[in-house]
Amino acid sequence: MQRPLQEKIATRSLRVAVIGLGYVGLPLAATFAEVGFHVTGIDIDQQKVDLANRGESYIPDISSSTLQKLLETKRIYFTTDFAILNDIDAVSICVPTPLRKTRDPDISYIISATQQVKEHLHPGQLVILESTTYPSTTDEVLLPELEATGLKVGVDFFLAFSPERIDPGNPDFATHNTPKIVGGITPACTELAQAFYGAAIEKVVPVSSARVAEMVKLLENTFRAVNIGLVNEIAIICEKLSIDVWEVIDAAATKPFGFMRFLPGPGLGGHCIPVDPHYLSWKLKTLDYTARFIELAAEINYYFAVASSQSASPLQRRVCTIPGTTQ
Ligand SMILES: NC(=O)c1ccc[n+]([C@@H]2O[C@H](COP(=O)([O-])OP(=O)(O)OC[C@H]3O[C@@H](n4cnc5c(N)ncnc54)[C@H](O)[C@@H]3O)[C@@H](O)[C@H]2O)c1
Repeated sequence: MQRPLQEKIATRSLRVAVIGLGYVGLPLAATFAEVGFHVTGIDIDQQKVDLANRGESYIPDISSSTLQKLLETKRIYFTTDFAILNDIDAVSICVPTPLRKTRDPDISYIISATQQVKEHLHPGQLVILESTTYPSTTDEVLLPELEATGLKVGVDFFLAFSPERIDPGNPDFATHNTPKIVGGITPACTELAQAFYGAAIEKVVPVSSARVAEMVKLLENTFRAVNIGLVNEIAIICEKLSIDVWEVIDAAATKPFGFMRFLPGPGLGGHCIPVDPHYLSWKLKTLDYTARFIELAAEINYYFAVASSQSASPLQRRVCTIPGTTQ
């Protein structure tokens, strides 16, 4: 089953589907269509599907003219009908992973998309989860569901995790030139996922398992959340000591090694940074471990956001007026 897929990737005859056409899925679908694949974008939102089919982009990273050009090639098409998965060789799942009110992970969108894939799973299919989630989701949630069809992973079908790193609005890095991590359930799964993304993305970095790939994404976003928490606390400390935190950061940033500039502010950078680390801390709680850095950073960032919105302190004025202070 592996070789035919590899040949289809090499000849661009592989039929690709992307499930979830948001900030991640729509650019990903366009990236594959741009390099010559036939791509079907699937979403449960009829309005998005209609807009996309008319070439009207609702995602800033994809212009309507780009979408229209791709539609003219007939290499891209959008639908709400999951039956198309019967004809698809490689499917990428890009659905939301929010938090519940209790701040526990809500993987209901992943489960629902997995059910749709399961219904149409067939020999020779490559399935990739891209949604950010806690380590073990691919092998403990997707794998048992898909193998319940009687098909065997690594033999009949292939399953991998590949985190999305898109940075909406970044003029320098888009899907095609942001290195992509891939980790499969078996070595054959990793190899296929690597070949698949390698056809459209400049650099693909394979890792030893889906769990490692899931953890890579959470390290990246936890790193940011914790460092923003640290610099927010430094801002509070500086205010108490009557020191200008901005002068301190600017001076520290002249060190050419061993320091990375993070800026204090009430915003944490889109909706991912405040959410994703909780996926990791939730998973650790199920293993009787408290992820203290994550919890502390969340607490400080929350405190900072509330304090800077309520107080009329010099800190708040600086945070609000200096450009680039929301990260
Ligand atoms: N936005 C970012 O900057 C970013 C960056 C990296 C990773 N991520 C991660 O990527 C994933 C997707 O994020 P996003 O920002 O693209 O979300 P989004 O909300 O912009 O888009 C998700 C899309 O999935 C659709 N959807 C929901 N359930 C579905 C289902 N069962 N079948 C088909 N479509 C379904 C929704 O209608 C929506 O259009 C999340 O896990 C997110 O954490 C996002």
